[in-house]
Amino acid sequence: MASTDQKELQNSVHEQMHGAVTIIVLGASGDLAGKKTYPALFNLHRTGFLPEKTHIVGYARSKLDRDEYVKRITGHLKIENDDDKRKLDEFLEMTDYTQGKYDQDEAWQNLNKHVGDLENKRGLEKGQKNRLFYMALPPSVFLPVATGLRKNVYGSEGHNRIVVEKPFGKDLESSTELAKDLGQLFTEDEIYRIDHYLGKEMVKNIMTLRFANMFLSPMWCAESIANVQITLKEPFGTEGRGGYFDEFNIIRDVMQNHLLQIFSLIAMEKPAGQDPESIRDAKVKLLRHVKPIDLKDTLLGQYIAANGKPAYKDDDTVPNDSICPTFASMVLWVDNDRWRKVPFILKAGKALDNQKVEVRVQFKDVPSGLFHNAVRNELVLRVQPGEAIYFKFNNKNPGLSYRTLTTDLDLTYADRYKDMRVPDAYEGLILDVLRSDHSNFVRDDELDAAWRIFTPLLHKIDRDRIEPKPYAYGSRGPEDLDEFVKRYGVARRADVPYEWPVQSVAK
Ligand code: BG6
Repeated sequence: MASTDQKELQNSVHEQMHGAVTIIVLGASGDLAGKKTYPALFNLHRTGFLPEKTHIVGYARSKLDRDEYVKRITGHLKIENDDDKRKLDEFLEMTDYTQGKYDQDEAWQNLNKHVGDLENKRGLEKGQKNRLFYMALPPSVFLPVATGLRKNVYGSEGHNRIVVEKPFGKDLESSTELAKDLGQLFTEDEIYRIDHYLGKEMVKNIMTLRFANMFLSPMWCAESIANVQITLKEPFGTEGRGGYFDEFNIIRDVMQNHLLQIFSLIAMEKPAGQDPESIRDAKVKLLRHVKPIDLKDTLLGQYIAANGKPAYKDDDTVPNDSICPTFASMVLWVDNDRWRKVPFILKAGKALDNQKVEVRVQFKDVPSGLFHNAVRNELVLRVQPGEAIYFKFNNKNPGLSYRTLTTDLDLTYADRYKDMRVPDAYEGLILDVLRSDHSNFVRDDELDAAWRIFTPLLHKIDRDRIEPKPYAYGSRGPEDLDEFVKRYGVARRADVPYEWPVQSVAK
C-alpha cells in the first residue's frame, strides 16, 4: 500500500501533468537509454508514479523493428514475479519506436504528427498534451536535435520539458555557448540538466543530515574540521569508452560535476528555504567563494597495464601519446569564514583497487595527550556501494581495561532499514521532472560557477601537456598519493588498528 508520502508524490505528479504526458526518448536505441532511462521509466510505472495516460515514444536513427526495440529497452529490467510481468506487458503497451534523422525538419515533422496522433487517440484535452523530451544523446547531435524539436515538435496545448545529460561543454567558453544556444530554444524553467549523482540516496540525504541535526551544526566549520575528502573509485578502466574519455578526462567526466555537486551540498550555507531556487542559490554562492584550482594542488595519474589488465593507452581509440588523466586528486579552497584553510580533497580514478564513493570528514586532533592512542574522529558518508553513515570515534575498551579503542556509530542502511528499496538515481530524477521540481538539477549559473573553478587548470593541463603519473591497474593510484594527501594534513594512524565495519572488540 502506498504510504502517505508516496501518495503526496503521486498527487504532485498528477497536479503537474493533469494525468497525461508523452515522454519522447531521443537516442532510444543507445546504451544510456537501455541501461538507465527505460529501467527508471519502467520502475516508475511499476510503482504507480507515471500519470495514467502516459505514452513513451522512442526515437533514434537506427532502424529497429518492434522486437529489436523491445529487446533493447527490456534488457536491463528486473522482472522478478508475475506482478512484474503484468506490469511489463502494460509498460510495453505504452511504448513504441519511431526511426528518423536528427537533422531534417521532415523527420521531426513526422515525429510531431506521430505524437499528435497518439495524443488524439488517448483523448487528451488541452492542458494534458504535455511533452517531455529526454535527450539520451552524445554531445555532437545535441544542438541539432534540440533545434529540430523546438521548431517542429514543441507542443502548444500543454507544457514542454527537456531533460539533458552531461557533458555540458568542455570548459567555461563552450559551456557558456551551449547554454546560450539552448537558452534560445527552451526557457530555463523548461530545462532539466541531469547530474545523476544528485539523484543518489546518500547525496539527497546530505541536506537532512546537516540541517536537521542540531548536534552537527556547531562543529561543521574550520574550528572543528581538519579536512574533507570526497572520493570516487572504480575498479574498471575506460574499456570501450576510450574515444569519449580521451577528450574529456577524469576531471570533466566525474569531478567537475558529480564530486563538485557533493562538495556543494557538504559545504554550502543553509538555504533560505527548501524550494529549488533557494537550494541552488546556496550552491552558487558557495561556488563563487571557491578559488580556481591550482596545478600545485593537483596530482594526476594514468593507469598502466598490470595484473593481466590493459593500460589506458592499449585502447585502440586512444592515441599512443595520450596524456589524459584517468586519476586525479585535487584540493578546493573555500574563501569564506566557515571554511578558511580547510582543504576539500577530491579524488577520482578508473582502474583502481576497489569500488566506492564516499565523503570522509576528518575532525581535528583531540587537544590533550590524555589518551595517547585516540584517533581523529571521522564522519563517513558512504554513497555506494551500500549506503551507510558511520562516525569513527574513541571509546573505552569494555571490561577491566582502560585502553582506548577506535570504534564507530554505524548506520548501515541494509541493516537498519531492512525493507527499504533504494531506487536508482534516474528514477527519482525523472519523478522530479514530472513534478516540476528543479532542486536536483543543475542551474545555468551553477554550471558557469563550476566551470570557473576548473577551466584554468584544464587549459593548463592541455596547453603545457602535463604528464600524468603512471599507476598500476588495480592499485590505489599513483605512488605519490599518500605523500600528496599528507601535505594537506590528512592523518592516518597506521599504529591503531581499525577497519569499518568493526568485526570484534578486544577482550
Ligand atoms: C558517469 C561517467 O557520468 O558516471 C562514468 O561518465 C562513471 O565514467 C559514472 O563511471 C559513475 O556513475 P555511477 O552511478 O556508476 O557511480
